[in-house]
Amino acid sequence: MKTTGRITRSYKKHFIKKKQPVVKESPVLYRPIETSFQDLLNNIIQGDNLEILKLIPDNTVNLIITSPPYFKQRDYGGGIGNEKTVEEYIDNLLKVFSECVRILKDDGSIVFNLGDKYLEGSLQLIPYRFAVASLKSFPVKLVNSITWVKSNPTPRQYQRRLVSSAEPFFHFIKNDNYCYNFADYMSNNGLKSKRTAGNNIGKKYFELIETSALTLEQKKMALCELQEIIEAVKSRKIESFRMKIKGIHSEPFGGQDGGRKYQLMRKGFTIIKIKGEPIKRDVIECAVETIKGCKHPAIYPLSIIKELIKLLSLPGNIVLDPFMGSGTTAAAAKELDRRYIGIESNEEYCKYAQERIKNIGIGKPLELFR
Ligand SMILES: C[S@@+](CC[C@H](N)C(=O)[O-])C[C@H]1O[C@@H](n2cnc3c(N)ncnc32)[C@H](O)[C@@H]1O
Repeated sequence: MKTTGRITRSYKKHFIKKKQPVVKESPVLYRPIETSFQDLLNNIIQGDNLEILKLIPDNTVNLIITSPPYFKQRDYGGGIGNEKTVEEYIDNLLKVFSECVRILKDDGSIVFNLGDKYLEGSLQLIPYRFAVASLKSFPVKLVNSITWVKSNPTPRQYQRRLVSSAEPFFHFIKNDNYCYNFADYMSNNGLKSKRTAGNNIGKKYFELIETSALTLEQKKMALCELQEIIEAVKSRKIESFRMKIKGIHSEPFGGQDGGRKYQLMRKGFTIIKIKGEPIKRDVIECAVETIKGCKHPAIYPLSIIKELIKLLSLPGNIVLDPFMGSGTTAAAAKELDRRYIGIESNEEYCKYAQERIKNIGIGKPLELFR
């Protein structure tokens, strides 16, 4: 296959063999790319992503994470984002998405992060229009719309609207058997007890049981079960508990036979165990990042990308970003011992990304998933 573009690493041998012209003043080799998929691995390729993606065979990439230019937000020197209408912009994104679906392995994932835009005072819901169009046009499912809440949005308060401070990361799959390292994630989170098991646990319930209108038999049973549940909290088997006592606490609405309402009627009390299992919500709160010396204006947070790579791929897998920018996806992939392919049209960002990735060590401890 043949296309044009620049490639930033380990191509010397290949190029010299083919006697391709080299632009001497640039450290980046500039030549027509005529290469195998293997050669793209662990490289940043300069060029138009639609062209470069065509070099990649069907069903080969495990995970695609990317953030395309937003509509009419910044000028990256032409290309996607500068279309006249939102419809044209979404059409162009869908062309890239189509290639992503083609090259994605059946158990892989595609994550697209997009921002919205106000036009003539009205929010356009562009990310959601893109997601709906993707679902309509391709054989994919949307697993989550993960909301990135920016803890440091641009500090500019409008007088007639609130400050936008969230963006979605859409997680698409091709197949229900997608790679998802949930058990790993959960085991790394563990049970984090928020309370220290002191001597006062459940004290108020002892007093309430004593002063309640329960029968002597019911009081005895309530005190016994209360003691047992306190032991469970102290030994960290559960996080905490709540107790409802007839005549003191409000009765639950509805319920089934044997449910809380019926326990209250029958025994005079009910105990609700709070197991404290960690839950992973579809919201990530994280600051917008800037990197000293990096000229790229729209870097997404390394920590979010690391979290997604860890959740959605395995060591050795291939992670691709068709809008690589400053190299965040490749940096995260390398750190987590995954292989990467980055495509970026802007030469300056390519060079920056290459330097950034060179300085990354594999297997640095993860601050997320802990
Ligand atoms: C929002 S930025 C990505 C930033 C990146 N996530 C990071 O953390 O640095 C989008 C990037 O896509 C690049 N781009 C735009 N159109 C492109 C195209 N057709 N092919 C390849 N790259 C493109 C832009 O130059 C820009 O750097």
